[in-house]
Amino acid sequence: MTTHTGPGRYVLFGHPVSHSWSPFIHGLFARQFDHVVDYKVLDTAPAAFRHAVIDFFVQGGSGANITLPHKPAAAEIVNDLSARAERARAVNTIVRRSATELYGENTDGIGLVTDLTRNLGVALSGARLLILGAGGATRGVLAPLLEQEPREVRIANRTLERAAGLRDEFSDLGEISASGFSEVEDRPWDVVINATAASLAGEVPELPPRSIGRDTVCYDMAYGRGDTVFMRWAAGRGSKRAYKGWGMLVEQAAEAYLLWHGVRPETRPVMGALERL
Ligand code: ATR
Repeated sequence: MTTHTGPGRYVLFGHPVSHSWSPFIHGLFARQFDHVVDYKVLDTAPAAFRHAVIDFFVQGGSGANITLPHKPAAAEIVNDLSARAERARAVNTIVRRSATELYGENTDGIGLVTDLTRNLGVALSGARLLILGAGGATRGVLAPLLEQEPREVRIANRTLERAAGLRDEFSDLGEISASGFSEVEDRPWDVVINATAASLAGEVPELPPRSIGRDTVCYDMAYGRGDTVFMRWAAGRGSKRAYKGWGMLVEQAAEAYLLWHGVRPETRPVMGALERL
């Protein structure tokens, strides 16, 4: 099947953003459908962000992705928010409905859930799920994770109040508790997701020794070439199942592609291509 859409213009707003893999990913998606898609990155300082977004759409831009640090600001700019984006208070995908009507969605959580369940075969339903960190990354994925009906979700954070705040905000969606890292139950969790920025400093949160078992799925929302600090740490604790977040990156991009173009690309070949980069 070959559907041909017009040469739409798409951008990724971020700061910094030059090393993003998204143009590569969207380029490979477009080739699957013989689409002509112009997808560029736009490094925009926070003070210039609002103006840059409005300008882009007034100039005829078709859609935008948003990455750090602009996701919360993007949620304030759009006219209409999906329920997920509203919960996340963050937008990573903007769809142009008209020059003055912008729709904001957050595909991060569904990207994470798809990578875990479909690509990695991890059962989230009924699972005991430990999330490390209580910043924007955690907020962005909580609702889609809870939709999978895990048995329990623990949010562990260095600053307890932030974890407790998220617990209170999302407790209508499932069984959530909050604690510091050292108070996490010392028996193997089914799934541990690293959503902290700790690894930027080469650090990994101090968890009790037996919280990671052989079968614990350890998922780092961060990614890069090779194994991440968290993956190496998890493997050192005995986990045979440590992954980084590039499957999430590709799956969230596929959801954005679907919103913009009405078709969902195959993600496996793109992950294979990333592997070979
Ligand atoms: P955001 O801007 O997305 O909200 P952030 O404020 O940078 O992100 O926070 C990201 C997460 O990483 C937070 O949970 C933060 O913990 P605090 O709430 O205690 O600040 C966590 N984090 C950052 N550096 C960390 C470190 N060295 N060890 C443990 N957690 C860390």
